[in-house]
Amino acid sequence: MKNYLVFFILLIITLYFVDIVFAAGKCPQPRKTRSAPVDISKIDKTTQASAENGKNLYIKTAKPMACKNCHGETGAGDGKLSKALKPAPTNFTCKDTMKDVSAGQMFWIIKNGSQRTGMLSFGLNMEDGEIWDVIKYIRGTFMK
Ligand code: HEC
Repeated sequence: MKNYLVFFILLIITLYFVDIVFAAGKCPQPRKTRSAPVDISKIDKTTQASAENGKNLYIKTAKPMACKNCHGETGAGDGKLSKALKPAPTNFTCKDTMKDVSAGQMFWIIKNGSQRTGMLSFGLNMEDGEIWDVIKYIRGTFMK
């Protein structure tokens, strides 16, 4: 009986760690982020945006923290902080997860953050134009 209990506890611990290791880069990946207001989810201002500047923000300059640290250099949700986060950062390369995520939805979440997830709010540190730049980079590079 005692052995059975020890086995069971070890099994749970193992499953917990397996889940952490495989949480990032998962596809399809469950999304914990709420929907933006409908009128905002329909906006798309990426046409005039600069993917070049977006790349810079994504990899290096975004404050409080560059997107790469969580979403990963290749957008697969496997940045260096990703293992510590539950839910895991969005894997932008996963078509199944991203197919319903519009540019406007991304804008709203980047500006305001996503409650009960590690996704920070960038609205205080980024101009709206810069947010569109980073969206253009993500959509054009990872979501093709
Ligand atoms: C501290 C870690 C972290 C950083 C830094 C971060 N994110 Fe996120 N991001 C997350 C997490 C966690 C989620 C939520 C995943 C979910 O919904 O299950 C998320 C979700 C998102 C989403 C998905 C919105 C949706 O509707 O599903 C977008 C878009 C996004 N982040 C863009 C960015 C951009 C752009 C940056 C940099 C300017 C950034 N993130 C920086 C952790 C981070």
